[in-house]
Amino acid sequence: MNSDFTLNPFTAEESPAVGVTFEKLNKQFGDLVVLKNINLQISPGEIFVLMGPSGSGKSVLLKHIVGLEAPTSGRVVVDCQDAADPETREDVRMAMVFQAGALFNSLSIYDNLALYLREHRFGQESHIREKVMHALQILSLEATGSKFPAELSGGMRKRVAIARALVMEPQLMLYDEPTSELDPIMAATISEIIASLRHEYHVTSIVVSHDRDLALSIADRVGLLMDGNLITVSTPAELKTNPDVRVTDFLNPKIDLHKPRFKKLEA
Ligand SMILES: Nc1ncnc2c1ncn2[C@@H]1O[C@H](COP(=O)(O)OP(=O)(O)OP(=O)(O)O)[C@@H](O)[C@H]1O
Ligand SMILES: [Mg+2]
Repeated sequence: MNSDFTLNPFTAEESPAVGVTFEKLNKQFGDLVVLKNINLQISPGEIFVLMGPSGSGKSVLLKHIVGLEAPTSGRVVVDCQDAADPETREDVRMAMVFQAGALFNSLSIYDNLALYLREHRFGQESHIREKVMHALQILSLEATGSKFPAELSGGMRKRVAIARALVMEPQLMLYDEPTSELDPIMAATISEIIASLRHEYHVTSIVVSHDRDLALSIADRVGLLMDGNLITVSTPAELKTNPDVRVTDFLNPKIDLHKPRFKKLEA
């Protein structure tokens, strides 16, 4: 990217989408085995949604792509380069929307978005301003530019994190729970943004989500991670008809309102 970058819309056309491959990926923290022999190929321009119970290893898997975690064995390949190699992060524009936002609390919302553009000298402040305001407007955050993260609701911070990822004009977008904390209308807007980034700019998206509607509506393929194992990878339609009881129980959890849960204290 240079100072000739397109101001609007996002993502310069000359940037091809990138693929991601997991090859026999294993990850352990001490004795805790988190990821077990993950083999998966995500195509350039694909929207891949990763679902699975809490603690199953979804965030750890995403962190391997951006090099925040290193494999215990196996490897992750981004655009033909090892994700653990810092040069990969120089060559491929990846943006990650972290589960908890990961905003800089001492910077205003505007400066949180402008930081990356200023650090990479993406042009004059007027150009940066246009990009930042465009991203804020897409996420309905125009009024928040001068506020600080602590002054926003959880859902607003989540949207700021997405806006900040957008200004990077990524080839590869990684989202960790992008719709948690959002109301249903805003959640639908985020699904639309993810889909249009692919349709219009061929951005590859890997989305970790518990949001069944999002997964089934925008994914090309859905993977289900359980206890560190990728137990199935399929289209949303195939997933819905998958007879595996682990899949059906996950997608259609039963609620037992009468199950005893609390021990009665002795008088
Ligand atoms: N840096 C770390 N050191 C030790 N254990 C870790 C570390 N990061 C994650 N873990 C453990 O790895 C397991 C998987 O964590 P991960 O954050 O990937 O879960 P998750 O599937 O994203 O869950 P959730 O849906 O709740 O976000 C958990 O048992 C967690 O405690
Ligand atoms: Mg997580």
